[in-house]
Amino acid sequence: MSKRVLAFAASNSSKSINRQLVGYAASLIEGAEVETLDIHDYEMPLYRSDREEADGIPQLAHDFLARLEAVDAILVSFAEHNGAYPAAFKNLFDWCSRIQREFWQNKPVAMLATSPGGRGAKGVLEFATSAAPRFGGELVGHLSVPSFYENFDAEAGTLTDAALDKELRALLAKL
Ligand SMILES: Cc1cc2nc3c(=O)[nH]c(=O)nc-3n(C[C@H](O)[C@H](O)[C@H](O)COP(=O)(O)O)c2cc1C
Repeated sequence: MSKRVLAFAASNSSKSINRQLVGYAASLIEGAEVETLDIHDYEMPLYRSDREEADGIPQLAHDFLARLEAVDAILVSFAEHNGAYPAAFKNLFDWCSRIQREFWQNKPVAMLATSPGGRGAKGVLEFATSAAPRFGGELVGHLSVPSFYENFDAEAGTLTDAALDKELRALLAKL
């Protein structure tokens, strides 16, 4: 049976540039069955301890963890909001962590991030990569793509910067 990889963007924007990037990255993975998901399909009310005590943990949090659990490796691309996770992903993470601290399910994880700016969402990527081991992520590597609109051809759905493309392919080979 071939390896299963789950690829998703930590963004709930329908036009997400991180979804475009992770979609391209997923298309480069060879010899594996790649599945994708949209975190918007796992939107839950804002985490509150009062809410958890009153209503328990939403089924969607269990469902999301089950998607991660079912695969052999994970590929994620983070949007950056004010230097941190977008609220949509943080909320999902918070609910899931109430079930299991090992959010990344002790799987190999490759982490990407991109933004329109020159820093390429490095802030969120630095946080996500440094936190990964504490949350059950076996980090295989990471890549920030700066200036998305200059380095990605949205029509073709490919990275146009040869050096970044090479780095991405090398990272995916480790997954
Ligand atoms: C509330 C908000 C905060 C943002 N903060 C940052 C930031 O800290 N760093 C950055 O590079 N871009 C920031 N941006 C711009 C995002 O990088 C940009 O919206 C990008 O498209 C988000 O990725 P996505 O399209 O995959 O959701 C911010 C955007 C919003 C709406």
